[in-house]
Amino acid sequence: MKGAKVAFVCQECGYESARWMGKCPACDSWNSFVEERRPDVRVSRPISSVGARWGGSGAVAAPVPIGQISASGEKRLSTGIGEFDRVLGGGVVAGSVVLIGGDPGIGKSTILLQAAQSIAASKGVVLYVTGEESVEQVGLRAARLGAGSDSLLVLAETDVRAVVEAMVTIDPVLVVIDSIQTMEDVELGSSPGSIGQVRECTNRLMRAAKERGVPVFLVGHVTKSGAIAGPKALEHVVDTVLYFEGEGNHAHRIIRAAKNRYGSTNEVGIFVMTDRGLAEVENPSEALLSERPGGAAGSVVVASVEGTRPLLVEVQALVARSVTGTPRRTTTGVDYNRTAIIIAVLDRRAGFAIGTEDIYVNVAGGVTLTEPAADLGIAAAIVSSFRNIPAAPKTAVFGEVGLAGELRGVSQADMRVNEAKRLGFKRCVLPSHNVKSMTRRQLAGSGVEIVGASTLREALEAVFAVVDG
Ligand code: TYD
Ligand code: MG
Repeated sequence: MKGAKVAFVCQECGYESARWMGKCPACDSWNSFVEERRPDVRVSRPISSVGARWGGSGAVAAPVPIGQISASGEKRLSTGIGEFDRVLGGGVVAGSVVLIGGDPGIGKSTILLQAAQSIAASKGVVLYVTGEESVEQVGLRAARLGAGSDSLLVLAETDVRAVVEAMVTIDPVLVVIDSIQTMEDVELGSSPGSIGQVRECTNRLMRAAKERGVPVFLVGHVTKSGAIAGPKALEHVVDTVLYFEGEGNHAHRIIRAAKNRYGSTNEVGIFVMTDRGLAEVENPSEALLSERPGGAAGSVVVASVEGTRPLLVEVQALVARSVTGTPRRTTTGVDYNRTAIIIAVLDRRAGFAIGTEDIYVNVAGGVTLTEPAADLGIAAAIVSSFRNIPAAPKTAVFGEVGLAGELRGVSQADMRVNEAKRLGFKRCVLPSHNVKSMTRRQLAGSGVEIVGASTLREALEAVFAVVDG
């Protein structure tokens, strides 16, 4: 190991130090430093390979005038799974590295094996590297998912150099690494899964992917704190980061892009786990509303938009008298701080004395709502539970709540209204600002009664108005 250097690396955030420290100055974790040996940069990465990382020619890249760069578009490979292609931005780009994170058992291996089978059946050889499960276990899962193709090769290997060699000799059209935490570069000396190993192995695979123009999927485990292990260091390196969301005991699974160099990060793919793998959900709004209790207090339907797709979801709230002096607030599927603001606005601006109540907010179906357009839904669900009155039947809502108690306009109002109409809703309560910008034709032709409100108070009156439904 001539020329190797020794560093102490925080396993939580990747901070490096020349000596051991008890507490990381960057992320404040205790006892997170591990000694790591790494090959001298000059030895392992000659200058010529730096150019090769991106260009593939092996020569040092020269600057190019921006107008002369051909924007003919990148080559994409369809995974054969529409919802998966959608989050990837229309298929996986040649030479890109995609990291897929999620809790254990959520379906990472399943979706990748399904994609691998479909690509092997139609496009060519796929290399599936398993470091976690035996070849037999992968075989059993493949049998469960449907007929295996002879072009799908399974390799039980944890040595990253051997994997890169296999990529050269087999020349596959797609590589799956399950998982990056089991990969190891023996020269480093630290144990697999440590931040140095994960980073170095990712770099090696990344270089191989760019040089050969082969897309690589990496499975990444998520730590207790919710980050992909070997966390930030990895997210910067790879091209795309996808997260699997959903609760283990719930059938719905959502894949969301957290970063995508080749597409939008707003897109989500919606699946349901069946006994034969992950199936695409054709009509997500309908599926998400299927278990909604009719006429129950505390349940409100929000017309939300995820990426380019409208999605109707049920927001539920439960308001209960607090038994301790300090009120409890719990949220699942909506932002905690956002909800705290909405509660304060309801209390101070809209005249609902809920400041001392316990409040629980939940989004049904394991979905996460990230856009402020869900504000009105959260507020209405809380008021509905607090007053114990159900929302008017067949009513969907959306709108952002401002600190002064005003209802602010949101994007894509017509798309939301149309989705509500498609699912048989009769009324939509939305910001007046959005109603003003709708054309008369949109208003008349929508088939849904559109109620504009300029304040939260007005909107709530409309949501709880008794109408003939
Ligand atoms: P898996 O893909 O192994 O999860 P991960 O790789 O993210 O850890 O998924 C395992 C879970 O999915 C397991 O609980 C069994 C379930 N499952 C099904 O319900 N149906 C199936 O067809 C398959 C393959 C798995
Ligand atoms: Mg797995």
